[in-house]
Amino acid sequence: MALTSDLGKQIKLKEVEGTLLQPATVDNWSQIQSFEAKPDDLLICTYPKAGTTWIQEIVDMIEQNGDVEKCQRAIIQHRHPFIEWARPPQSSARNAKDCMVSYYHFQRMNHMLPDPGTWEEYFETFINGKVVWGSWFDHVKGWWEMKDRHQILFLFYEDIKRDPKHEIRKVMQFMGKNVDETVLDKIVQETSFEKMKENPMTNRSTVSKSIMDQSISSFMRKGTVGDWKNHFTVAQNERFDEIYRRKMEGTSINFCMEL
Ligand code: A3P
Repeated sequence: MALTSDLGKQIKLKEVEGTLLQPATVDNWSQIQSFEAKPDDLLICTYPKAGTTWIQEIVDMIEQNGDVEKCQRAIIQHRHPFIEWARPPQSSARNAKDCMVSYYHFQRMNHMLPDPGTWEEYFETFINGKVVWGSWFDHVKGWWEMKDRHQILFLFYEDIKRDPKHEIRKVMQFMGKNVDETVLDKIVQETSFEKMKENPMTNRSTVSKSIMDQSISSFMRKGTVGDWKNHFTVAQNERFDEIYRRKMEGTSINFCMEL
């Protein structure tokens, strides 16, 4: 099962069912595998850097302000769609190029993850799925196909960015909650990038510098669509588009790459 990452930082990733994971996750794998969600649980399944924290904050705020007394437990996971599980989730995706850029900067500042190396090196690592939680392509394609067979709300980072109120309403409906218009406006405001960047509950400022060094890159870094254009060379972009076409062949999913 053991596999190493040969990148700079001395973090040895391990592989489970073909997916690279952090050692601590693998150590607890049997517990993770046997976890059973309750019928009311809301599972949030995202590929890393697709806006997990954002969705979590939206769900928390709806939960706190919703009209239903009953408490719903939200569970976050980056789990691979092909691993069996108890209850369908809410899934969300972000375009692969921005995900790659965000993950690259996250690996630079996160001392629990391997050093990403140069951008050129990381490009190879990412397209080959040799990052924690595996291939973006498998994850997104898997969940996208799964959504038609289960009760899954599939959201796009780019849509939330373009029209947060509309997408937050969808989450509310999925959760079976109602909030009045002023509360909805408050949720939109409080979950904006600017607010979340200032909020110690969401900006990870409470995490020790030995784990996340935000002087290298902020956890709430840019929060934009299309930052890939500041990183991809023309040649990388062409190559990526070709790989994307091949790997995502046959899927109807459509991403917005810029706003
Ligand atoms: P960037 O690195 O591109 O800025 P995750 O929570 O899955 O780790 O994802 C983190 C990414 O989501 C980061 O992307 C972060 O800035 C972005 N993000 C978090 N909250 C956001 C918000 N309210 N609006 C827009 N982007 C947000």
